[in-house]
Amino acid sequence: MEETVHQPHAHTHDHTHTHSHGSDHDWEALGDQLEREAELHIPAVTEAAHWLRDLLGLDGGGQTRVSRVLDVGSGPGVAACLLAAAFPDAEVVAVDQAPGLLERVRTRAAGLHLADRVATLRTDLPSGFDSLGSADLIWSGNAIHHLGDQQAALAALAASLRPGGLLAVAERGLPPRFLPRDIGIGRPGLQARLDAANEELFGTMRAQLPGSTETVEDWPAMLARAGLMPSGTRTFLTDLPAPLGRPAREYLYAQLSRLRDRLGDRLDREDRETLDLLVDGDARTGIRSRPDAFYLTAITVHTARAPRPA
Ligand SMILES: C[S@@+](CC[C@H](N)C(=O)[O-])C[C@H]1O[C@@H](n2cnc3c(N)ncnc32)[C@H](O)[C@@H]1O
Repeated sequence: MEETVHQPHAHTHDHTHTHSHGSDHDWEALGDQLEREAELHIPAVTEAAHWLRDLLGLDGGGQTRVSRVLDVGSGPGVAACLLAAAFPDAEVVAVDQAPGLLERVRTRAAGLHLADRVATLRTDLPSGFDSLGSADLIWSGNAIHHLGDQQAALAALAASLRPGGLLAVAERGLPPRFLPRDIGIGRPGLQARLDAANEELFGTMRAQLPGSTETVEDWPAMLARAGLMPSGTRTFLTDLPAPLGRPAREYLYAQLSRLRDRLGDRLDREDRETLDLLVDGDARTGIRSRPDAFYLTAITVHTARAPRPA
């Protein structure tokens, strides 16, 4: 399999690399949905990026020069572009295994006039960790949990940090809420049952990853075990009240359609029927039309610094 680097200024460099394909989803097929979701989170991730600037001392004493930033498991690169805006002196490299998602990164960066500072690197992790190069800031959003050994992944990222560099891992946070408890169809409390079924599916997904290793998911403790100095955890809210605009409705419509397919046999018949009604085109009970749909979720970011030599 091939590792491909797309540098800014269209310089392309290929070399071969042996690895196992560690993917648990058809990520390319999810491209639209990943991009819609990340766009809903732009204000939250922008706020997070400004916090990272503070942590790196850029708004205070200008202590760390940030010249290279990695977005590991970048997907379509919404965060990579936000990081490029927040760190105007840096080259940002979006790293992912899915070529189609990296194509989206390049299109997005070009549309935002960031093409000269946003590069892409196609590689499969964990075997590709060696190819990342060093960085002053590494961001990874909802990607580490798709690798079998999360602790080893953090150790590999820590090894890529320059002295004084910062690792920021966005994992978990709060699952989205988008419907009232009682929606007038089916049994109240559907969202809690969807969360429970999702959690079971998540456990199965993790157990099937290559090299799957159980870890107590105490992220600051894991960052410390990776040899870093934890520098704080913060949570950033996305709060879109009803009535929702079209982008959020289209995201929820696609998300509920996917949940119905993925969770169907983990739900009882009544809940499956409720999901059917929620994704029933433009019906008044459907998520695309109902006036009570909202979108509330939170991204939690755990950070840690690489030590500087004494
Ligand atoms: C849930 S998406 C997160 C995308 C983006 N960071 C965000 O928060 O919107 C996970 C991303 O990790 C990538 N990924 C999953 N397993 C990977 C692996 N083994 N090596 C490299 N990338 C991987 C997927 O292609 C996908 O783009």
